[in-house]
Amino acid sequence: MVRQDGNGIKNQKEWDPSKAKSYLTSKYEVADGLSAEELFDLRKHGGLTYNDFIILPGYIDFPASEVELESKITRNITLKTPFMSSPMDTVSESEMAINIALLGGIGVIHHNCSAEEQAEMVRKVKKFENGFITDPVCLTPNHTVADVHKIKQTHGYSGIPITENGKLHSKLLGIVTARDIQFVEDHTIPLQSVMTVDVTCAKEGVTLEEANHILRQSKKGKLPIINSKGELVSLLSRSDLLKNLHFPLASKSPDSKQLICAAAIGTRPDDKVRLKKLVEAGLDIVVLDSSQGNSTYQIEMIQYIKKTYGNKLDVIAGNVVTREQAASLIEAGADALRVGMGSGSICITQEVMAVGRPQGTAVYRVAEFANRFGVPVIADGGIGNVGHITKALALGASAVMMGSLLAGTAESPGDYFYHEGKRLKKYRGMGSLDAMERGSEKHGNAAEKRYFSESDAVKVAQGVAGAVVDKGSVKKFIPYLITGLQHGLQDVGVRNLVQLREAVAEGKVRFEFRTAAAQVEGNVHGLYTYEKRLFS
Ligand code: IMP
Repeated sequence: MVRQDGNGIKNQKEWDPSKAKSYLTSKYEVADGLSAEELFDLRKHGGLTYNDFIILPGYIDFPASEVELESKITRNITLKTPFMSSPMDTVSESEMAINIALLGGIGVIHHNCSAEEQAEMVRKVKKFENGFITDPVCLTPNHTVADVHKIKQTHGYSGIPITENGKLHSKLLGIVTARDIQFVEDHTIPLQSVMTVDVTCAKEGVTLEEANHILRQSKKGKLPIINSKGELVSLLSRSDLLKNLHFPLASKSPDSKQLICAAAIGTRPDDKVRLKKLVEAGLDIVVLDSSQGNSTYQIEMIQYIKKTYGNKLDVIAGNVVTREQAASLIEAGADALRVGMGSGSICITQEVMAVGRPQGTAVYRVAEFANRFGVPVIADGGIGNVGHITKALALGASAVMMGSLLAGTAESPGDYFYHEGKRLKKYRGMGSLDAMERGSEKHGNAAEKRYFSESDAVKVAQGVAGAVVDKGSVKKFIPYLITGLQHGLQDVGVRNLVQLREAVAEGKVRFEFRTAAAQVEGNVHGLYTYEKRLFS
């Protein structure tokens, strides 16, 4: 009998639809897509990055909400979500580190500051208690209504405690809320004439439950916490309280129940002194911050840390992009590797130094090697969207480190400003001249150390300074990344990151190279105007 196929073409063979899947296993069939090994065959494609390839869909038999994102980010530390914030002075200080840890990831506090300032930031993360704001913005009675408006514009809140010297740990004199200044037209009026002086407070040591009760009874939006001398020690906000009570994914040390904190240092002798201060503040993970990690300085530093702190402190070494670099650091005792050179959004390393590697290939090659030794790999730089996260993890990374994606959130350092109608925040490379200058001023010199340029008479920039748009709070942004990633993995057909890695290694997850035209097709195209809203 002569049959016709779906296109009406005559076909001699009988094709039984009920056995469609079995035909695919025949040795004459060419499987769709490529295995990761085939995709990253360096002789065929050269170096690839995330946009150069796509993952082919698998089979779904579970809801996206069931996908688990737990991942080992160092030999000894497992997090519920594989997200890390970059050690950059426009991305990660204590506010970022606290909030990302509450949401299951980890923040790496930058070192472009004095050792004492960095240790204080680590201490804040370790001492953080759910719900209490330990560094509220305060003003003095002599500040004006205009100052409150300015804070509202840059920080987004207006319940401001008034203390004697305008700082925390100073006598609380009153509070100014939005209602106090709502109808005040003269913005030069000092706050002492508008502030509420009869303030409901709670005493230091109050539990979150008790404080919550007081807030509810008082019907107020803010509850200052004071010590026995009447000095402000922290602040509780009703809106935060409602949101903050439950963080089931929070990254906490199993014994102390404190949030887990990481911080970056350089690899010079004075960094050993810095590290001692960070460890005293409770540091869990140290990140050796270097753009080219395969150096005698770094190997010596890893060995020193392992000898001095043993297993109490995990070391993330890097950055590396080749397995040869990785092997040196693994041998020295690294507990994880940070992978990326020249892939960061603010980075000009590849252009200026002519050294680096496309990030997809770097992650795949290093992860494939390091994972054999149980050393997790962190894909650092070039993560521009949720899809890039799914791809980095599919290439064997255990976590992603993000700079630009998290800069511009409410929790990143710096104030918002407006430019051509857009609300922006500053974001700069640690190798930008801008950052190097701050380093020198503040005797931190982190930026210069990262790029081995402390002794240069002429500073050669490896990064730029710019701005990114307001992304709102990480409290909404990270949940978006989590849900987006869960959906990505559901499409691939895997329920967790271990399954993903196994399926990739076995060649079950398939990839395909994308031409330039395919990349255009894969993005919004053909529209005259559109608005790209990413989540709600
Ligand atoms: P992004 O997420 O693409 O913005 O990249 C952030 C990463 O870029 C950081 O985690 C660093 O590894 C890297 N980086 C930070 N500053 C510089 C720089 O000035 N030049 C090159 N790379 C940088």
